[in-house]
Amino acid sequence: MTSVYVINGPNLNLLGTRRPEVYGSTTLADVEELCRQEAGKLGLELEFLQSNHEGQLVDWVQEAGARVAAGECIGAVLNAGAYTHTSIALHDAIEGASLPVIEVHISNVHAREEFRHRSFVSPVARGIVVGFGVHGYVLALQGLHQLSR
Ligand code: DQA
Repeated sequence: MTSVYVINGPNLNLLGTRRPEVYGSTTLADVEELCRQEAGKLGLELEFLQSNHEGQLVDWVQEAGARVAAGECIGAVLNAGAYTHTSIALHDAIEGASLPVIEVHISNVHAREEFRHRSFVSPVARGIVVGFGVHGYVLALQGLHQLSR
């Protein structure tokens, strides 16, 4: 079965309790369930991952890229959290692994602090979903599936 990765970066494990006025009260387990249902509808196997560590995210991007190259995976939905705004390593990993990525942010980062306006992921992403709350993950899965057809 073809797979899709959903990769979550730092502090997204705190979803539900961390700044609910910004990120809502849905937990990461709820987001996983949402993604599992959508992936099922799209006929895809879901790999749902979260890490607070930049190098682990780089490893998963490389792993997903290798699976895309092997024809086993359509790409990744990536919410890199704050590493979005800092990580040249993630930028290089996405580019180097030729991984089709849809960048997701729960909040509208462009309506927030200026340091959130810059993304090192966007230039190497196939698409971007911003500001739709956790429903953005579903939209990103649909968009990635559409692009892969
Ligand atoms: C976020 C936005 C980032 O700026 C922030 O550091 C996060 C979450 C979002 O989903 O809105 O951790 O990626």
